[in-house]
Amino acid sequence: MGLIEKLQRTNNMICPWWMCYSFDNPLRRIFHKPESLLDPYLKPGMSAVDIGCGMGYFTLGLAKLAGPEGRVIAVDLQQQMLDALERRARGAGVADRIALHRCRKESLGVEGPVDFALAFWMTHEVPDKPRFFREIFALLKTGGRLLLVEPKFHVTLRSFERTLAVCREAGFRALEEPAIALSRAALMGKE
Ligand SMILES: C[S@@+](CC[C@H](N)C(=O)[O-])C[C@H]1O[C@@H](n2cnc3c(N)ncnc32)[C@H](O)[C@@H]1O
Repeated sequence: MGLIEKLQRTNNMICPWWMCYSFDNPLRRIFHKPESLLDPYLKPGMSAVDIGCGMGYFTLGLAKLAGPEGRVIAVDLQQQMLDALERRARGAGVADRIALHRCRKESLGVEGPVDFALAFWMTHEVPDKPRFFREIFALLKTGGRLLLVEPKFHVTLRSFERTLAVCREAGFRALEEPAIALSRAALMGKE
């Protein structure tokens, strides 16, 4: 089986909770610094949703940037991810700004509106992307932003471009292509 074929086979697989430790660990700070990466998009008092938050590598950074007046909704399919995130959020003293939400595969089921949505290294796991992006579009405020980031080692350029096309069909406009280590990224706007 060729590499591309292997990539395609694993494309829709949900990342098991125990695999999260392989990339959500202190070494990751060398190339992904949550606060500086997200600072352009979230200011104190704003609201955000971290979709496919995993164990909260970016959720904690979002909560710090949102400040005591802001709020962050952390959404994931797996309870083990949310449990680990809850422990980390308590340890970091930001648990009061974070609402945990366990979603279903067919629907995020989150109530907006929010200023900012993050989908980091998770969209390739979503089988129904048109529905997924329509749902994010609906929960963002007008002028809101979606930062869509996919792992380069797992998502080919062609596949990322197809995903962006689906995202635009849901109503988003492509605004920028931020440079993020090991990733393909796009900032999408709801105008
Ligand atoms: C590879 S992990 C990335 C976690 C985190 N965003 C990070 O960068 O550390 C992907 C996460 O997306 C979640 N996920 C996959 N499909 C999802 C869906 N349809 N809705 C919400 N979460 C989903 C998985 O459970 C997993 O926690």
